[in-house]
Amino acid sequence: MTGTISFPQDRSCPYHPPTNYRPLRASGPLSHVSFYDGRTVWAVTGHAEARTLLVDPRLSSDRQNPAFPIPIERFEAVRRVRTPLIGMDDPEHNTQRRMLIPSFSVKRTATLRPQIQQIVDGLLDRMLEQGPPAELVSAFALPVPSMVICALLGVPYADHDFFEEQSRRLLRGGTAEEIEQARRELEGYLSDLMAHKETAPGDGLLDELITERLRAGTLQRQELVRLTMVLLVAGHETTANMISLGTFALLEHPDQLAQLRSDESLMPGAVEELLRFLSIADGMLRVATDDIEIAGQTIRAGDGVVFSTSLINRDATAYPAPDELQVDRSARHHVAFGFGIHQCLGQNLARAELEIALRSLFRRVPALRLAVPAAEIPFKPGDTLQGMIELPLTW
Ligand code: HEM
Repeated sequence: MTGTISFPQDRSCPYHPPTNYRPLRASGPLSHVSFYDGRTVWAVTGHAEARTLLVDPRLSSDRQNPAFPIPIERFEAVRRVRTPLIGMDDPEHNTQRRMLIPSFSVKRTATLRPQIQQIVDGLLDRMLEQGPPAELVSAFALPVPSMVICALLGVPYADHDFFEEQSRRLLRGGTAEEIEQARRELEGYLSDLMAHKETAPGDGLLDELITERLRAGTLQRQELVRLTMVLLVAGHETTANMISLGTFALLEHPDQLAQLRSDESLMPGAVEELLRFLSIADGMLRVATDDIEIAGQTIRAGDGVVFSTSLINRDATAYPAPDELQVDRSARHHVAFGFGIHQCLGQNLARAELEIALRSLFRRVPALRLAVPAAEIPFKPGDTLQGMIELPLTW
């Protein structure tokens, strides 16, 4: 056990796990880290152990359990409200998830591909008209998933400045109060939107849920507002970071990019490899509700557990040469989308967006390169989703 490594920490390279986590890799598959308040929690870094634990019902996602581990002070705000889906255990979680599964199935997502391609093409047309140079996060990486999730939910994209700002504050706000305020503002916005939709229905998922669930009384108004908020925030912040960081990582690995360009059929596999390699959501949290024996250790009831996605996805027993980006490797079974009952609901959508966005970007802009030296490009701190803050590019 290491005992003293604090979690989370900043990366020193935007696509590698923090160098200070190195001892955790050596002491794995389970060790300890400490949070901002001095609390020590289990850190899972082994791939097999993570997949065993993530399906164990004795690990709870209920943020309102007073023993639920909160790694950073400003996230204490999450204890105040029940977070739908991601913060619930079965059977309640399952009821909500079943309601949404058809909208995020492989089949339904496939029908969205032409629309995603159209969104991507339109944004690239504009970027090429206005550049070079371009700032990829604002010109492309953020608008692609924002426009897609808006179309899917039936939320007006015209309001994107507002909800992008509120979700930025939700994830990166300086204090618990700021986060709470962002949540309230988003809730207020979505309540108004729902009221409007009840009189003038559209054809998004939100409209469907209003017609089929709210009217039937099988879903409460506030539950629907909070559920929509989870989908809206999870639906654009994550994929936006994958597009910006994925582009950066490929530009920094020109041999891999060349291989991908010469054989575009590698793209679906390359997306899996980028998800593994970048592990942008580093630190899934759980609390044990009962004692669990694993890898010769006992996780006691009430213990906090953090899954370090970036280390799990670089477990050498699961992936040979784990610190290398290899677009033609089989990166299956990574945990970048989590695993078990909470495994990312939007994973099919995210995969489709990433494939289309990266393929189109590199195809349309063959001379794409960084506009400034890599070391000068700002990226996100370790206490939020990993990604680029800005990505200045030229061609
Ligand atoms: C590349 C982009 C994405 C990444 C890396 C990602 C990552 C994750 C991870 C790690 C979890 C599991 C959290 C846990 O177990 O505690 C998760 C859950 C979830 N994700 Fe994603 N996500 C992405 C895109 C999306 C998109 C596009 C949506 C669309 C709405 C979405 C919606 C959700 C939802 C609703 C959950 C909670 C599922 C549940 O609790 O049953 N995600 N995601």
